[in-house]
Amino acid sequence: MNGSEPQTDQRQDKPFGFMVQPRASNRLDVTHGTILYLEDVSVSFDGFKALNGLCLYIDVGELRCLIGPNGAGKTTLMDVITGKTRPDSGSVFFGQTIDLLQMDEPAIAQAGVCRKFQKPSVFDGLTVFENLELAMKTDKGAWATLFHRLGSEQLDRIAEVLQTIGLQEYASRPAGALSHGQKQWLEIGMLLMQEPKVMLVDEPVAGMTHHEIDRTAELLLSLQGKHSIIVVEHDMAFVRSIARKVTVLHEGSVLTEGTMDEVQNDPRVIQVYLGD
Ligand SMILES: Nc1ncnc2c1ncn2[C@@H]1O[C@H](COP(=O)(O)OP(=O)(O)OP(=O)(O)O)[C@@H](O)[C@H]1O
Ligand SMILES: [Mg+2]
Repeated sequence: MNGSEPQTDQRQDKPFGFMVQPRASNRLDVTHGTILYLEDVSVSFDGFKALNGLCLYIDVGELRCLIGPNGAGKTTLMDVITGKTRPDSGSVFFGQTIDLLQMDEPAIAQAGVCRKFQKPSVFDGLTVFENLELAMKTDKGAWATLFHRLGSEQLDRIAEVLQTIGLQEYASRPAGALSHGQKQWLEIGMLLMQEPKVMLVDEPVAGMTHHEIDRTAELLLSLQGKHSIIVVEHDMAFVRSIARKVTVLHEGSVLTEGTMDEVQNDPRVIQVYLGD
């Protein structure tokens, strides 16, 4: 694994189903520059291998595009990283020491691996500001957050995120009055309030106008470096506009990786995905 074996593998020591919260002794260790290690990951549904010996490494701060035909396993991969689906075999590490397969979904999110689903799940009745406030990373519960007076640091953080997602003018509007694209940006803003280290974004531009797609590309590009981001998308013009390294998934494994030009000219990629 990139010459860097995880130093601890606690799975053998734990009874089945035991969930471990990341502790101070198990802090995120990215000294080798890699933030996610997936090795030999397989997932079957009724004997069908949705992921098949998949290996994927994501660097700190990189923006990775993940493409591939319908059913290639892209969403399943995100399900595995976020703890929604348990693989049959393989390993998934966050940094060199945090074994995500030992953690449940809330613990993985709390550790800084956050996901944006395709359908926006903003609270339509709350304002844009209140949605961001509610999403803020806090030790308190949601109710305590709502009735707690915000400190200047928290107000600054919300203002910063509003600016990043380009919704400053809309702060006091109900989220329900936003366009589809604006709702998607608000949801990305809600993820940002949780200060994620890894962001997984599945088909962010589906249903967006051309203008909204361009704005989304700018937004994601502005986040690289500060966060490690995996973007799944079928819209190839959009992928080209943000692409750095592109990974092509096919039948549950990595078919190839490279620049957009490299993968678009790869005969295997043309055959299984881009040919029609
Ligand atoms: N919960 C499930 N039960 C049974 N089969 C599943 C389940 N989830 C996914 N699959 C199957 O696993 C395969 C991979 O699905 P997945 O959703 O990961 O593909 P994808 O690459 O995200 O496709 P798309 O581009 O259409 O979103 C598909 O054949 C799908 O039908
Ligand atoms: Mg999918």
